[in-house]
Amino acid sequence: MAPLDVLSTLAGEVRRDIAAARERDPAARGVGTAEMLATWPGIQALLAHRVAHALHGAGVPALPRAIAFAARSLTGIEIHPAASVGEGLFIDHGSGVVIGETAEIGNDVTLYQGVTLGGTGFSTGKRHPTVQDNVTIGSGAKLLGPITIGHGAKIGANSVVVADVPAKATVVGVPGHPVSVDGRRVEGPDADWIHLPDPVADAMRTLANRVAELERTLAELRGETPPPIDPATVHPLRPVKGRNPAGG
Ligand SMILES: CC(C)(COP(=O)(O)OP(=O)(O)OC[C@H]1O[C@@H](n2cnc3c(N)ncnc32)[C@H](O)[C@@H]1OP(=O)(O)O)[C@@H](O)C(=O)NCCC(=O)NCCS
Repeated sequence: MAPLDVLSTLAGEVRRDIAAARERDPAARGVGTAEMLATWPGIQALLAHRVAHALHGAGVPALPRAIAFAARSLTGIEIHPAASVGEGLFIDHGSGVVIGETAEIGNDVTLYQGVTLGGTGFSTGKRHPTVQDNVTIGSGAKLLGPITIGHGAKIGANSVVVADVPAKATVVGVPGHPVSVDGRRVEGPDADWIHLPDPVADAMRTLANRVAELERTLAELRGETPPPIDPATVHPLRPVKGRNPAGG
């Protein structure tokens, strides 16, 4: 690509980044472009990344890493120059954000402070997440490994996500699990209280069987007729009508 084309692409990307911050940051209302460029760490880090990424793509040595390092020192946001970032990314507050080398981010994604798009070990090749369009990732969330976060998903603050996330799902917790998909609550196996194991009934059944066994042995020792085998009946929990208390 000719240098002028590169510059015009960069300018367009930065304009989209500033517009994204305006749309999604209530604190940006009424703030001018120059002020945002000077004081919004998310915008500064992205501007630096767009330049570093273009230089990295052009095969320029060392400089892209130096730019990424300087941006990290200034903003607390570390984006590897090779990471692929779509248009309209908004990083709110910034501090503690890490975006790894093989991470891929789609368009109109929002990240809050403390988000990690990281690898899980020392493997090489694709080892960081792919985040599709319109995803929101809450503060402190860690997304680890070459997983895919589906279009429009929301990741809860402080979640640790190590598996693919379906489109339009909301995932929370450690490890991250979906609590809703496309606005509908997810009733997973954990909510199936009717089929939960019943350890008390199991223990009573075992004790009753041992008593029966002892009674039979005692009868044999006394020369009496052993009682018939009559395994104790322990009634399992019965389903009750009404709201599922585990289902929320
Ligand atoms: C995940 C999130 C997007 C949920 O949005 P939502 O779709 O409205 O979901 P709800 O609030 O209805 O929560 C659904 C369930 O998940 C739980 N939950 C929500 N966020 C959670 C989180 N971060 N960690 C653990 N559980 C969470 C809720 O308590 C609720 O549980 P319940 O079904 O037992 O009542 C939101 O809670 C979140 O974490 N946003 C990130 C915001 C952020 O980082 N802001 C930083 C600003 S500086």
